[in-house]
Amino acid sequence: MERIVVVGAGHMGSVIAGGLVDGVPQAEVVVVEPSAERRASLAGRAEVAAAYDPRPDDLLVLAIPPQAFDSFAESLPPGACAQTTVVSIMAGVRLETLASALGTDRVLRAMPNLAAGVGQSMTVLCPGDQVTAGGVDRARGALSVIGEVLVVRDESLLDAATAVAGSGPALVAYLAQSFTDFARGAGFAPADALLLTSQVLRGTAAVLSEPGATPESLYRQASTPNGTTAEGIATLRQHRVGESLRAALEATAERARELAG
Ligand SMILES: NC(=O)c1ccc[n+]([C@@H]2O[C@H](COP(=O)([O-])OP(=O)(O)OC[C@H]3O[C@@H](n4cnc5c(N)ncnc54)[C@H](OP(=O)(O)O)[C@@H]3O)[C@@H](O)[C@H]2O)c1
Repeated sequence: MERIVVVGAGHMGSVIAGGLVDGVPQAEVVVVEPSAERRASLAGRAEVAAAYDPRPDDLLVLAIPPQAFDSFAESLPPGACAQTTVVSIMAGVRLETLASALGTDRVLRAMPNLAAGVGQSMTVLCPGDQVTAGGVDRARGALSVIGEVLVVRDESLLDAATAVAGSGPALVAYLAQSFTDFARGAGFAPADALLLTSQVLRGTAAVLSEPGATPESLYRQASTPNGTTAEGIATLRQHRVGESLRAALEATAERARELAG
């Protein structure tokens, strides 16, 4: 039986572990977590342990804070991970760092987002050069329990992925606040303002997922000359909202590059 070990049962780790227990029933799922309270909250759902007991064929999912990685790696016996496939979701810890600290070339980095909690993460997965196609499939399969997975081969794309996908839900939520604020200001009850906004986001995402759809085709199609939408788009252009968003994404990606050192 395949064993998948999730290290760290915080926000992300517990969502991934829960998704694996429900979505990959044929796997043995083990959660390694130092906090007795968090272990207790998972007991009965997954196997729990206070420390990692390595086995050669494990798929190891590292969901610990980046600053905890060195002490985790140092706590393992030398060579313990030589045959292990390791997927790290730690922001800013490079493939090279993972491989040298864990003593294995079978390392992959993944950038999920907070929509993992509702099974709608956009996760970008980057395997190291030495990871086999089977290893990539194994990692992709495990991460697909929290949503979509896109595999990229160029590690530098993970910085842009952090901006667009990792921080994306928060950036979009910031913009969505203007919609809810406006609707509330116009007289809608808070819950109705949120319903209008969330359903608009859901509907827009669904339209953008149609074959051939692009953001530009959507807003052009909706903009009848001299109509209401055209007025809104013209105002966004006048206020340089597109440029502001590009600057925000660039700043987010730059911060990801800085944190990765
Ligand atoms: N949250 C997100 O939206 C998101 C998105 C993308 C990537 N990430 C990445 O995902 C990772 C986890 O984020 P998070 O938000 O889930 O953090 P979190 O809620 O702080 O969870 C981290 C967990 O790891 C545990 N831990 C620390 N050291 C450990 C060790 N040596 N062995 C086992 N468990 C250990 C912590 O336990 P204690 O609290 O007891 O120390 C905590 O339960 C981070 O590296 C972050 O960069 C998060």
